[in-house]
Amino acid sequence: MMPLAAHDHESGIRENPGSHTHDHGGTSDATVDMVTTLAGTVLPNPVLTASGCAAAGRELAPFLDPAALGAVVTKSVLLRPRSGRATPRMAETPSGMLNSIGLQGPGIDAFLEHDLPWLAARGARAVVSIAGGSVEEFAELARRLAGAPGLALLEVNISCPNVASRGQVFACDPLAAADVVRAVKAESGVPVLAKLSPDVTDIVAIAGSCVEAGADGLSMINTLLGMVIDTDTFRPVLAGVTGGLSGPAIRPVAVRCVWQVHAALPGVPILGMGGILSGLDALQFLLAGASAVSVGTAVFHDPSAPVRVLAELRTELARRGITRLSDVVGAAHREPHR
Ligand code: SIN
Repeated sequence: MMPLAAHDHESGIRENPGSHTHDHGGTSDATVDMVTTLAGTVLPNPVLTASGCAAAGRELAPFLDPAALGAVVTKSVLLRPRSGRATPRMAETPSGMLNSIGLQGPGIDAFLEHDLPWLAARGARAVVSIAGGSVEEFAELARRLAGAPGLALLEVNISCPNVASRGQVFACDPLAAADVVRAVKAESGVPVLAKLSPDVTDIVAIAGSCVEAGADGLSMINTLLGMVIDTDTFRPVLAGVTGGLSGPAIRPVAVRCVWQVHAALPGVPILGMGGILSGLDALQFLLAGASAVSVGTAVFHDPSAPVRVLAELRTELARRGITRLSDVVGAAHREPHR
């Protein structure tokens, strides 16, 4: 981004960063307003955890303050406790990993008793991810969560690839996706995000269907279905055979999905995710049209990654003379390279 000549008060983009040099040639980090609004919910900053990478946030507590993040997105919770798929259920891949967890979790009763109160007591905003095998299960989960303390948003996980049948991946079918969203919306007192799968021919069609059914925003993307074969045993590495691919390997796919959906549905809030390791990675998602981002797979090797990404993002914005994060949301669609 090339420096311009003066400060544009309308856009919040400070021009000629060199004239406001503090420690890195732009504005000072402290002057960057990191507040964002996601589906009508104001968040102090745009960096969240990603569902499934740190249970309900407690696992990250030795490494970061959950209240310092925009929000904590919890592992998808189901109506009943579930042990998930057989092991092995994780495998390394080039620039990423496969998981075949199968929605392991304590179930909604334990979640409401232990996990959500823990987050609320720490002042963290919770985006609770819910998953079910039927429309009725999703609706029941939304009902159980209505009015729960600390609940900021619901993320409706209609895209988990690790289920017994592809027919349960509601996000692969616009009508099935809409049925789930409609049922959850009818029960939820908080904004609802639909989490989409990249494993579809036309993600814009699924996104549009979810929004028509009442989704207040979209989370994208969930993992891509993949597999690895052990060349010694000649067998799939994962006991579940296939798993969800995450990490930097999928980042360009995720940025493309966010870009396409924002281009088609510019007013729809997006929580972007997929292989974010750094502040610059996060910036790509914001430029593509996301109002906030989730950091997921990175925490497996750097548990403090979400706060690091947040600090890096702030610095990168300051370096570019940008004083308001909200000004970069979708900017790649409208601004010529400067
Ligand atoms: C899992 O628990 O299998 C992963 C959840 C998901 O990818 O949605």
